Amino acid sequence: MTSEGWSSQRLYRPFIRASLIIAIVLGFSTGAAILIMPILGMDRSLTWVTHGQSHGIAQLFGWAGLFVMGFAYHVVPRFFSSSIRYPLPQKLSMWLVIAGLFFRFTGQSLYKTALADPLVVIGGITLFAGMLVFGWTLVSVVRLSSNRYGPAEIWILSGILWSVVSGALHLVITLRMAIDNAPLGYAPWNEALIYTALFGFISSFIFGVSARAIRGFLLLKPMHERVNRIALGLVQIGLVLLIAGRFTELDQSVVSAGLTLASSGAILYVFALRVLEPASGPIRRFAVGYERFGLLIRAAYFWLTVACVMLILTALDSAGVTDVMPVEVSLPVMHVFTLGFVTTLIFGAASRFIPIFEGADIRHPWLMDAAFVLVTISVVLRVGFGFSTSELGEQALGASGGIGFLAIILFAVVAFQAMTASARAAYARRAAAFGQIKFDAARKPKSSPIKLL
Ligand code: HEM
Repeated sequence: MTSEGWSSQRLYRPFIRASLIIAIVLGFSTGAAILIMPILGMDRSLTWVTHGQSHGIAQLFGWAGLFVMGFAYHVVPRFFSSSIRYPLPQKLSMWLVIAGLFFRFTGQSLYKTALADPLVVIGGITLFAGMLVFGWTLVSVVRLSSNRYGPAEIWILSGILWSVVSGALHLVITLRMAIDNAPLGYAPWNEALIYTALFGFISSFIFGVSARAIRGFLLLKPMHERVNRIALGLVQIGLVLLIAGRFTELDQSVVSAGLTLASSGAILYVFALRVLEPASGPIRRFAVGYERFGLLIRAAYFWLTVACVMLILTALDSAGVTDVMPVEVSLPVMHVFTLGFVTTLIFGAASRFIPIFEGADIRHPWLMDAAFVLVTISVVLRVGFGFSTSELGEQALGASGGIGFLAIILFAVVAFQAMTASARAAYARRAAAFGQIKFDAARKPKSSPIKLL
């Protein structure tokens, strides 16, 4: 294990590949199947409820988690002007998370057999071990740095902390499943885990990267740094209340307060980042990556704001303060967050960052256009018909599942293709042609020579 030469490594590659494969094989496919089943006249039996939970875990730790981890290994040492040990921790953490998801998914699918409990527990232990290795490797990066408390760095620290806590919560949930011989994770604990992974682990890393790299790429106006720190504080307090409330079975008002604070923190962050405001000036650079990536990032932050407002309303309803949202609303809200924000954000950031990291071109940008349109339609259908139990509503939800599944396939094609030698060669040719034009322009005389006679 060494840290020399770390900056030339492309440690994110296997993570991105693994994340996409898990998303297609276990995540989006299962979600789409659950939504399409009623249209085909099939009942959603307990088997599909267990698959709903496994789908959630595969999406959180596999699709979003592995993507975030791969990016984090690449950017965190750069943000902290530090170095990182490689490649053992990266390989180990990736395989432990993959193994954890495999065992959890298989164990929960085989809930009628004696294998279920040991498999689910092994899944919990290996996933936790993967998150520990990930967290520990990044803590070592931070310890070598003298710059730890900038506007981006504080979110990265938060992401490291909550990634490990998410793994620990998942472990406790799987242990309880095995002890109770239960086919499903205990719902209140499961809810705490979902919000911890979403706000604490995944969003914290996204916020850190946005505060540094995305802000620069989009030429956003200077960040409101004080508001950014308040946002961070609210997310931390909110998550502590949420976890304490659910795990020690405190009054619902504690959990509602936690969810309200965490959601308010995320909304404040969007305001602090100023990502929904116009850029501070025109962007003039040699184009690398997907041209419309900024639109995806802005759309993602728009969905985050919508999701958080809806979460606050459901939290206030649950605490009995208001009565404005029907109970069924919690299902679409989850996917406004996970599909609207997390997935659109990953699409946008990756369509710009992978080509930059690789020195590669996106060969078929229309595939990215299509992926963006499809994921947006999928979210809109979920929000529009999430409350509905009518036949039309069932069909719209089924369509939303299929469309979302198609979106991830198109995005996977773009991402895999951007990591090939042909994409790097295309970029090299374009950069050379651009350089030649600049060179010729610089050599051209700016004014006609002075005539001496
Ligand atoms: C095409 C895309 C998707 C489809 C069709 C889909 C479908 C579903 C379905 C049918 C459920 C079961 C309960 C419900 O109806 O809400 C569910 C739950 C869930 N999904 Fe998705 N989903 C998609 C994308 C995602 C993504 C991208 C994430 C995370 C990044 C995610 C995370 C979750 C979580 C955390 C749950 C809750 C699981 C639980 O109750 O334990 N989903 N999803």
